[in-house]
Amino acid sequence: MCGIVGYIGHREAYPIIIKGLQRLEYRGYDSAGIALYDGTDIKLSKTKGKVSDLKERLENEISTNGTLGIGHTRWATHGVPNDINSHPHYSNSGDLVIIHNGIIENYDALKKELIKRGYTFKSDTDTEVLVNLIEDVKKNENTKLGKAVQIALNQVVGAYAIAVFDKKKPNEIVVAKLGSPLAIGIGDDEFFIASDATPFIEFTKNAIYLEDEQMAIIRRHKEVKVRKIKNDALVDPYVQELQLNLEQIEKGGYEHFMLKEIYEQPQAIRDTFRGRLLSNEALIKLAGIEDNMKKFLAADRIIVVACGTSWHAGLVAEYIFEDLARIPVEVEYASEFRYRNPVITEKDVVIAISQSGETADTLAAIKLAKSKGAFVFGVCNVVGSSIARETDAGAYTHAGPEIGVASTKAFTTQITVLTLIALRLARAKGTISSSEFRHHLIELETIPNKVKEALESDGYVQTIADIYKDAKNFLYLGRGYNFPVALEGALKLKEISYIHAEGYPAAEMKHGPIALIDEHMPVVVIATKKGHYEKVVSNIQEIKSRKGKIIGIVTKGDESVKELADHVIEVPETIECLTPLLTTIPLQLLSYHIAVMLGKNVDQPRNLAKSVTVE
Ligand code: F6R
Repeated sequence: MCGIVGYIGHREAYPIIIKGLQRLEYRGYDSAGIALYDGTDIKLSKTKGKVSDLKERLENEISTNGTLGIGHTRWATHGVPNDINSHPHYSNSGDLVIIHNGIIENYDALKKELIKRGYTFKSDTDTEVLVNLIEDVKKNENTKLGKAVQIALNQVVGAYAIAVFDKKKPNEIVVAKLGSPLAIGIGDDEFFIASDATPFIEFTKNAIYLEDEQMAIIRRHKEVKVRKIKNDALVDPYVQELQLNLEQIEKGGYEHFMLKEIYEQPQAIRDTFRGRLLSNEALIKLAGIEDNMKKFLAADRIIVVACGTSWHAGLVAEYIFEDLARIPVEVEYASEFRYRNPVITEKDVVIAISQSGETADTLAAIKLAKSKGAFVFGVCNVVGSSIARETDAGAYTHAGPEIGVASTKAFTTQITVLTLIALRLARAKGTISSSEFRHHLIELETIPNKVKEALESDGYVQTIADIYKDAKNFLYLGRGYNFPVALEGALKLKEISYIHAEGYPAAEMKHGPIALIDEHMPVVVIATKKGHYEKVVSNIQEIKSRKGKIIGIVTKGDESVKELADHVIEVPETIECLTPLLTTIPLQLLSYHIAVMLGKNVDQPRNLAKSVTVE
C-alpha cells in the first residue's frame, strides 16, 4: 500500500507531486509528506492526515520551489500514523531522503546493526532503517548513490518500491522495486515516478513499469538506466504506451468516485465483453483461453485464489463453472492458500482474480501454484500489473480505473469475464447445447441495459437507506448464485458505513443467525424468481415471524415477496447465472447512501487501502 510520486525535469515539481499524491490516495491516506530540492537544500514537510492536510500545512511551512522532488501518501505498517513516522525519511547525515511503499521484513536486525555503528532513529519505521542502510553502504564502500542502493537492497528481505535522492547530487533520483509497483513516466526531458501512471497521465503516455528486482537511475537531461538489483546488469527497458486518459480518473460530476463507478457499470460490462462475445456468430473469443484450451480441458479442477470482493467474484464463478462447464471448482482465500501447504498438481488450473493486480497474498498464491507446476490464469483489471505479468495467461476485465476503495464495477466485470470463460469452456466440453449457448450469449448482451434499469431504483434505495441508516447490524441472505452477492452486500456496507453486517446462505440462517433477528434487525434478502425462489420465500416468512425488517431484492413484477417484505427493490429478469450482475446493484447503492447519510468518507474508508500490497 502507500503511494509514491517523484519528479525530475524542467517544471516545478510541487504541483505535480501534490496532484499525483491526491490521485494515489486510494493506496493509503493516513499521512502524507513531500521533499523538494530547491536548488540549495532539501525542503521537507510531512504530516499525519490526508494530502489536503499536507497541502495546507506545507504552503505555510516551506518554500515549494524546485524541479526535483518526491512525495508519499501512507498506509501505516510499521509505526502508528503520526508526523514522525510519515515519509519522506532522512538519513542521519541529512543528505539522503527516501520514500517507500512496502515492508522491510528484516528491518529489526538491520536496525540493531546500524545502532551498533552509531546510527540513531527518530521514527518507528522500517523505511528510516533502509535509508540509513543505504547511507552506511555509500560511506563504507565510497560509492555513488545508485551502487549503494543496489548493495543495500541485496541485504534486504521484504517488499519495496522506493525513490531516494542525495542533496549533494541533486540531479538524480534512484528508484527500485520488489513486490510493490513502480512506473516511470518518460516525458520530454523530464521524468515522473509513481505507484501507477495516474499522476503523470496528462504529461506523457510513455512509461516503463519496473519489473521485480529492478532499479533505475533517473538523471536530469539523460536517459533512464535500468539495472538488475541482484547483479547490477543493465536491462533494456520496455517503454509502454499508456491507454489511460484523464477523464477516466476524474469524478465527472459525481459526488464520489464510488457513485461514478456504480453508474459506469453498464458501460464497463459492455467494454468487458466487447470483441469477445460475438452473439451473431455464436462465438466467444478469449485469446488467453483459446491459446491454452488443452490445459483447461485436461484440468482435474479449477482453483480460484483471490481476496475480498474478488474472492466473492470467485464464489460466483464456482457456481457458473460447475453449473455450465461441469468442472469442479475450489475457491480459496489467497492468504490461507499460500500458507496451507495445499495439494496442487500439474493438472490443476488456478484462476487468480484481482482488480489491482497487486494484492500481495494473491501474488504469493500465484507463485506457490506455479512452483508446483499448475497453470495460472489471471483475471485482472489493471493492465501491466504484477499479477497480470506473473500469471501464465489471462483476461483483463477492462473496467477502467476503479478509484473508490470499495470495489463495485470491478466485481461485476470480473463476473462477466468469468462467465465468458465458463461459457467458452462449456461449449468446448459439450456440456451446454448450441441453442443454450446462444441463448446465454444473447442474455449476456442484454445485461448492460438491465443494469441501467436496475440503477433506476436509486431514488427508492435512498428512501430505504434513510429508514435504516441508524441500524447497528444488518443481515444479508441469498441462495445459490446469490449467496456470494449476499456476502458482497454485507462487505460493502461494513467497509464504507462501519455498520456491522453479515452475509449468509439463506438456509443457514436457522443454524444460528436467526437468533439475532428481532424488530431492530434489517434483513436484506435476495429473492429473484430463478433459483430456489420458493425456498427463499419460506426463509422470508421465518424472518417475518420473528419481526425482522425485510428488504427484498426481487425480480420485476414479483408479488409474493411484496406481500411479506417491508420493502422490495426490483431488478429486471434474466437467466439465473446472470442474476448476480443485477442483484448486486441495489446493494451497492444501499451501502453508498447509508455511508453518505452517516457522513462517512465513502471513497476512502478508514483503515483501508485500494491496493493491498502487504500480506
Ligand atoms: C472491497 C475491496 C477489497 C478487495 C481486495 C482484493 O470492496 O475492494 O476487498 O476486493 O482487497 O483486491 P484486488 O481485487 O485488487 O486483489
